[in-house]
Parts: sequence; C-alpha cells; structure tokens
Amino acid sequence: MKLIPTLESRPNYIQSIVALFSFLIALAITSPAWSQANDIPTDPDIISSGENLFRQNCAACHRVDQNLIGPALQNVYDRRDMAWIMAFVKNSQKVIASGDEYAVSLYDEYNKTVMTSFDFTDDEILSIVAYVKDQTDNPPQAAVAADGTGQTQEQGVPAKYLNIIFIGLVTTLVLLLIVLVMIVSVLQKYLGQKADLESDDREIVEQRFDLMALLQNKAFLGMIAFVITAFAFKGIIDQLYNIGVQQGYAPKQPIAFSHKVHAGQFEIDCNYCHTGVTKSKNANIPSPNICMNCHSGITKGTNTGTTEIEKIYSAIDNNKPIEWIRVHNLPDLAYFNHSQHVVVGKVECKTCHGPIEEMDVVEQYSKLTMGWCIECHRTTDVKTRDNAYYDELVKLHDKVNSEPMKVEDIGGLECAKCHY
Ligand code: HEC
Ligand code: HEC
Ligand code: HEC
Ligand code: HEC
Ligand code: HEC
Ligand code: HEC
Repeated sequence: MKLIPTLESRPNYIQSIVALFSFLIALAITSPAWSQANDIPTDPDIISSGENLFRQNCAACHRVDQNLIGPALQNVYDRRDMAWIMAFVKNSQKVIASGDEYAVSLYDEYNKTVMTSFDFTDDEILSIVAYVKDQTDNPPQAAVAADGTGQTQEQGVPAKYLNIIFIGLVTTLVLLLIVLVMIVSVLQKYLGQKADLESDDREIVEQRFDLMALLQNKAFLGMIAFVITAFAFKGIIDQLYNIGVQQGYAPKQPIAFSHKVHAGQFEIDCNYCHTGVTKSKNANIPSPNICMNCHSGITKGTNTGTTEIEKIYSAIDNNKPIEWIRVHNLPDLAYFNHSQHVVVGKVECKTCHGPIEEMDVVEQYSKLTMGWCIECHRTTDVKTRDNAYYDELVKLHDKVNSEPMKVEDIGGLECAKCHY
C-alpha cells in the first residue's frame, strides 16, 4: 500500500470527489422542508389570486405574522405538509375528529374555536399558501419601517441549515487537503527526478513523514494532552449537572393505583383528582374521600381490586392518610407554580409530565433541572390571546419586536422569579 499518493491514483480522487458532491446534493434534495418549500409556486399571478382568496376568506381570523383568532400562518408549510394543510382547510373538523394529534392539540390551544370549512380546489389552497410564503419571505414594507431599523426581520440561520453548512465546510476542507497532498506528491516526484539537486535539497525532497519524531515532539504531545484533558473536564461537568436528576424515577406506591386505568381507560379528568393544579402552586394528591366517590360503588370487581381497594377503606376507617411516595420533587430553593403554567400559560400536563394516562406507575418524565425550565421559557410563546392582563404588554412588545412574545420577555429568566 502506498501512503503517498501518486499521479496514477488520481482517477480515484476524482471518483471520491464526485461521490461526495452527489452525496451533498442528495442530502439537500431529501431534506423535506427544503423540497416542499421549493414546490410552492412563486408566480406573481398565483400569488395575487392567493392574496384575494386570503383577504376574503381567511383574514377575518388569520394574519401571516401574528396570532389572531387562529394561529399565524407563516411557515405553516414547514410545520405541516401540503396534504395536511389542504385537508385542514377543506374540513378542519374532519381532521380533528380523525384524531390527528397536532390538529387536536392546536384545536385545544385555540379554545376549541371551529375554523370554517372551505370548498376550495387544491390549486386555490396552494395559491393561498403561495401568498403566505411570499409574505413570509418578503414582509410588507410597513412592518419593516415600523420597527425603525428593519433589522429585526433577520431571523438568524435556522438550525436545520447549520448542519448542511457544517457538512459543506468539512467537505471543502477535505477537498483542499486532497488537492494539497496531490500537489505535494507531484512536486516531489518532479524534483526527485532532477539529477542536479544539492544534497541538502535532496534531503528535503526525500523527507518522509516520521511518526516517531512527531511522537517525541513536545508541542505535539502538549496539544494531545490538552485535548484529552478538555474532553475529560467536559465529561465531569456533564456528570455534575446530572447529580440529583431523577428523570425516570418511578417508585412503587402503597396502593397499586393506575393512571392508565383511571385517566386513560376511564378518561377521568386530571383536575377531578388533582384539584389544586388550576388554583394553586401545588397539584395536590387526592384524599381517600375522593377515591370513595367512586369506589364505594365499584369496589369488588376484580381480584386485585379487592385487596387494593381494602387499603382505601382501611385508611378511611383508621383516619390515616395513604402514604403515597412523592415522585416529583424540586429542591426547596426553587419556586414552581402549577396554576401559573396550567391556567395562565395554558401548558398541558403532558408537556411536562408525559403520557401519564398510559402509565400504570407514574414516572418522572422530564429532567426538572434549571436548564429544562429555562429552555422552555426561551422557546415558548406567551399565550396572550383572550387575556386582557397582557394587552398593554403585547402592544409595547410588538413595537420593538416582530417575534411573538416569549416567556423570556416577561421575566421568565429572572433568578428571583424562580428562587426564593
Ligand atoms: C373563523 C375563523 C377562521 C377562518 C375564517 C379561517 N381560519 Fe384557519 N384556523 C382558525 C383556528 C381557530 C385555527 C386553530 C385550529 C382550530 O381551532 O381549529 C386555524 C388553523 C389553521 C391552520 C393550521 C395552522 C397551523 O399553525 O398549523 C391553517 C393552515 C389554516 N387555519 C388555514 C386557513 C385558511 C387558508 C383560511 C382561509 C381559506 C382559514 N384558515 C380561515 C380559524 C379560522
Ligand atoms: C382518580 C384520581 C386521579 C386522576 C384522574 C389522575 N390522577 Fe394523578 N395521581 C393520583 C394519585 C392517587 C397519585 C399518587 C399515586 C401515584 O403517584 O401514582 C397521583 C400522582 C400523580 C403524579 C405524580 C405526583 C408526584 O408524586 O410527584 C402526577 C404527575 C400526576 N398524578 C399527574 C396526573 C395527570 C397529568 C392526570 C391526567 C392525565 C392525572 N394525574 C389524573 C390520582 C389521580
Ligand atoms: C371517578 C371514579 C373513580 C375515582 C375517583 C377513583 N377510581 Fe379507582 N377505579 C375506577 C374504575 C372505574 C376502576 C376500574 C374498576 C374495575 O376494573 O373493575 C378503578 C380501579 C381502581 C383500582 C384497581 C382495581 C383493579 O381492578 O385492580 C384501584 C387500586 C383503584 N381504582 C384505586 C383508586 C384510588 C386509590 C383512588 C383515589 C386516589 C381511586 N381509585 C379513585 C374509578 C375511580
Ligand atoms: C413547557 C414549558 C415550561 C416549562 C418546562 C417551565 N415553564 Fe415556567 N412558564 C411557562 C410559561 C408558558 C409561562 C408564562 C405563563 C404566563 O403567561 O404568565 C411560565 C411562567 C413562569 C413563571 C412566571 C414568570 C413571570 O415572569 O411571570 C415562573 C416563576 C416559572 N414559569 C417558573 C418555572 C420553573 C421553576 C420551571 C421548572 C421547574 C418552569 N417554570 C418550567 C412555561 C414553562
Ligand atoms: C410547566 C411544567 C408542568 C406542567 C404543565 C404541569 N406540571 Fe405538574 N409538576 C411540575 C413540576 C416541576 C412538579 C414538581 C413540583 C415541586 O416539587 O414543587 C410537578 C408536580 C406535580 C404533582 C405532585 C404534587 C406537587 O404539586 O408537587 C402532581 C400531582 C402534578 N404535578 C400534576 C400535574 C397535573 C395534573 C398537571 C396538568 C393539569 C400538571 N401537573 C402540569 C411541572 C408541571
Ligand atoms: C425558570 C426558573 C429558574 C430561573 C429563571 C433560574 N433558576 Fe436557578 N434553579 C431553578 C431550578 C428548578 C433549580 C433546581 C434544579 C435542580 O435541582 O437541578 C435551580 C437551581 C439553581 C441553583 C442550585 C444548583 C444546584 O445544583 O443545586 C443555583 C445556584 C441557581 N439555580 C442559580 C440561579 C441564578 C443565579 C439564576 C439567575 C441568573 C437562576 N438560578 C435562575 C430554576 C430557575
């Protein structure tokens, strides 16, 4: 095996370069958001007919860049595929009734507001989407002027393109390296054939890569040591961050109470038992009396039922609380309030607690670290609709920023909000 490339092996380089490029192109084409966004027409005629349809039929409830009665439609073609959008516009209730998860949660998020059905052809809907995309890509002048600078329209590079850019950079570097190695080898060959070289020069030309010398080089060893220490240090820091993280914790409870049976199979509302969630800081655990609302009637159904249900009776008879084992537990230094999140923030239980209605034994679904709280506060829009409390704030916010208001913007990252 020749380590130093020669001219004869050049066709292999060309092959690999071609392969690399076709790989990159394939990557770009198969990226779904990329290709779908490209399928949306940009023809001015289609866009203007889309604009008419939008103004007459959708503008009552939708804006392109802000939530109104329905959600802001910008980037909807990235969130959903065209087939879904068409089905939703033609008959949103049908999509919701089919159990489509996204549609159902959107419907709930918008307080079960029914969107009108439209008897449009696919092309008509496509033209509306084309208009929406055109408005997203070229926001109207007024909006740009309103914020004075015109700068805030810049959204930064979306994360999904960062990967592609990164791959592109690495590829360029690899290609450069290959070309350099080729040039060196050609020069070496050429000089090696010249007979009249000084002996000093010949030594340089015939220099070979010397692994041993490299390994004895102090600077090189220092660099390797630095890289290894850096990785080790990062590993230790990561481990430290995980101390006290109890994600997945699922203790066995004194009574085999199953959320899968109660909240899943029998669809009992979370609030029926955890009455505190909407009113206070704590989501309380129900007292045995609440169990008895039902279990005085439906006790002795099954085998496990008898023994397990007896325990509820004995708790009531002995006037002792059931000693449920606490699953979620923030340290005392942190303040968390359920009603703030569930009622005001309209965050669903399952966002933080996962699919409780499928769990026989409750487990801690999220990390409950500070980073977890902060991450959500950075990325979640405040639900300001129908909330007079926020009206003034929203007006102020919209003056300086065209992005929807995030929890971060109302002080969700201030230490004192979460720490006593
Ligand atoms: C009566 C008010 C109303 C009208 C009119 C209306 N919508 Fe909607 N739209 C909504 C609401 C509310 C939602 C949120 C889902 C729900 O509650 O059903 C929504 C959701 C959507 C979604 C999903 C958005 C997302 O974020 O994924 C699309 C797409 C959409 N509408 C398109 C249209 C188009 C196109 C028109 C006009 C042809 C239109 N809507 C007219 C109220 C309306
Ligand atoms: C029939 C009453 C009942 C219903 C309905 C119910 N729960 Fe519970 N929940 C309990 C009881 C009892 C416990 C304590 C025992 C346990 O952890 O399983 C509990 C515990 C929990 C815990 C863990 C508390 C801790 O110790 O940290 C969470 C989270 C929870 N429930 C969320 C939910 C959600 C979300 C729903 C709705 C999807 C729901 N519950 C519906 C009775 C109920
Ligand atoms: C809204 C009515 C309702 C409430 C409130 C309720 N349950 Fe149940 N529970 C049911 C139903 C329905 C079943 C299923 C009965 C069956 O399978 O025969 C059940 C089943 C059970 C079972 C399992 C029985 C078996 O068959 O294995 C246990 C244990 C249980 N419940 C405990 C509790 C506890 C503890 C509470 C209070 C925290 C509670 N339940 C509150 C309706 C309720
Ligand atoms: C899934 C998203 C999410 C997670 C996770 C989350 N929050 Fe929040 N939080 C919100 C939203 C949304 C609001 C805004 C509620 C409103 O409109 O006032 C909020 C508001 C708050 C506020 C009030 C901020 C203010 O300025 O009024 C506090 C305090 C808070 N959260 C603490 C926490 C803590 C502590 C944690 C972690 C244990 C946490 N949150 C995790 C979504 C989240
Ligand atoms: C924004 C995230 C978030 C949402 C949304 C949320 N929870 Fe919690 N939940 C938590 C955190 C964090 C704890 C731990 C609180 C603590 O230890 O002080 C917790 C604890 C609990 C507990 C244990 C008792 C307590 O208050 O410490 C129950 C029960 C519970 N949640 C039920 C629910 C139910 C039911 C809902 C939906 C109505 C819900 N949660 C929505 C984050 C959330
Ligand atoms: C959105 C809520 C939130 C905000 C804002 C927040 N924290 Fe925290 N912080 C928490 C929670 C929750 C914990 C407990 C997490 C855990 O035990 O992993 C915590 C833990 C800590 C701890 C203890 C770490 C440990 O390992 O015990 C320190 C120190 C801390 N926070 C400092 C700060 C400072 C300083 C700020 C302001 C720059 C801040 N926090 C802002 C929620 C928050």
